[in-house]
Amino acid sequence: MRSTSRSTTRPWLRRGLASAAALALGSSLVAASATPAGAEERVDNPFAGADAYVNPEWAENVRSQAAETGGALGQQMESVAQYPTAVWMDRIGAIEGPAGGMGLRDHLDAALEQQDGGTPLTVTVVVYNLPNRDCAALASNGELRISENGMQRYQQEYIDPISEILGDPAYSSLRIVTIVEPDSLPNLVTNVDGPHATEDCREAAGPGGYVEGVRYALDNLQFENVYNYVDISHSGWIGWPDTNFPQTVRLFDDTISGAAAGVNSVSGFITNTANYTPTEEPFLTNPDLQVGGQPVRSAQFYEWNPQFSERPFAQALRTALVNAGFPSDIGMLIDTSRNGWGGPDRPTQVSTSTDLNTYVDESRVDTRPHRGNWCNQDGAGIGERPQATPAAGIDAFVWVKPPGESDGVAQDGIVDPDDPNKGFDRMCDPTHHNTWNPNMPTNALPNAPHAGRWFPEQFEMLVENAYPEL
Ligand code: BGC
Repeated sequence: MRSTSRSTTRPWLRRGLASAAALALGSSLVAASATPAGAEERVDNPFAGADAYVNPEWAENVRSQAAETGGALGQQMESVAQYPTAVWMDRIGAIEGPAGGMGLRDHLDAALEQQDGGTPLTVTVVVYNLPNRDCAALASNGELRISENGMQRYQQEYIDPISEILGDPAYSSLRIVTIVEPDSLPNLVTNVDGPHATEDCREAAGPGGYVEGVRYALDNLQFENVYNYVDISHSGWIGWPDTNFPQTVRLFDDTISGAAAGVNSVSGFITNTANYTPTEEPFLTNPDLQVGGQPVRSAQFYEWNPQFSERPFAQALRTALVNAGFPSDIGMLIDTSRNGWGGPDRPTQVSTSTDLNTYVDESRVDTRPHRGNWCNQDGAGIGERPQATPAAGIDAFVWVKPPGESDGVAQDGIVDPDDPNKGFDRMCDPTHHNTWNPNMPTNALPNAPHAGRWFPEQFEMLVENAYPEL
């Protein structure tokens, strides 16, 4: 029922334009432009009842490491190759694809081949190339700059070609999910004013910046079989109820309300993209519980943030967004590719300590020294397997960050010849301290290659620490 009302209330701008043009040209073209046989009907949750696309390039990296490793560990590794991961359009050149590699059309063609008879198939595509990208860090700075005509290039050389491909009727039988611009709008919440402000983020908050870019992307990705989810960071970033959380809801509402289809431009939001925050903290579920006379949320690790894990956080965010005016059928996604935190040291029961910090540190499964640590985290494991409707309001657990791909290079002075804009961020250096808390180490793995590159040591660790186990 809901899917019907959604498809009639949403404008489907691009398809609408195409049919209008066809109408003007004559009725034979109308027939040609009508939904082709086998085209997918709009649904509320694109993941429900669907298979999902396995990126063959990523699976090949997994398989070759599995074969090289051999034994029981090799078998566990091999089992990972069956799971769907997102395809990242992380530069203009990714649309065509590198020499000898796959571009966007290649992936969609391969997805058509993977589609099994009548079962729908989702393909998840990350839209990640805003000008001044990754404005509060250096590991994934992109190729476009606001001061160098970046917004025009983003629109014409990046979003327009993606729009043309995703809107191609040849792909109308696929359910295409987009993940829109990880980290962008959340950076405008926390890194424009105050102690963590950066010049790049300040510029990104202005004309030709993130708000305009996200609106343009949404306006041009409106197709009946395309489902847009905007990245909304994670609980350790914006969980504080009096500041970041409501500011985030407001910014997302303002931004998306300003798109042509307004709040109907999106199917929902995704939390934890490429991050490590656990889906659940099984032994820490009540932020206001008193331990040693103080609430758990006041422990050093939580810094008064009551949102300890992604599932409750995503649900709370969804409620707040619906209250702010988003349609009640929006759904949330959670990236669970690396938030498993298993392995032999994972706590199996709640601590009995009466010292608050000891209590939290002995009970939490997330063993990072600080929740702001985001780069190649030591101790992490693969998380929940991709699955549809795992909890109320959650459309799916997805693997957006492909496990085994680095978050950023661990050492300064190494240039990536194919992507010279990938930089060195000290949060990826294991010998450095955390940017937000100088007493804390970065907890990053040593010897990591540039962001997006295959990192065998990390993949091995993620497999060994998977939770649930592989
Ligand atoms: C990198 C991208 C890469 C993606 C997935 C990001 O951190 O900047 O280049 O495609 O991770 O690994």
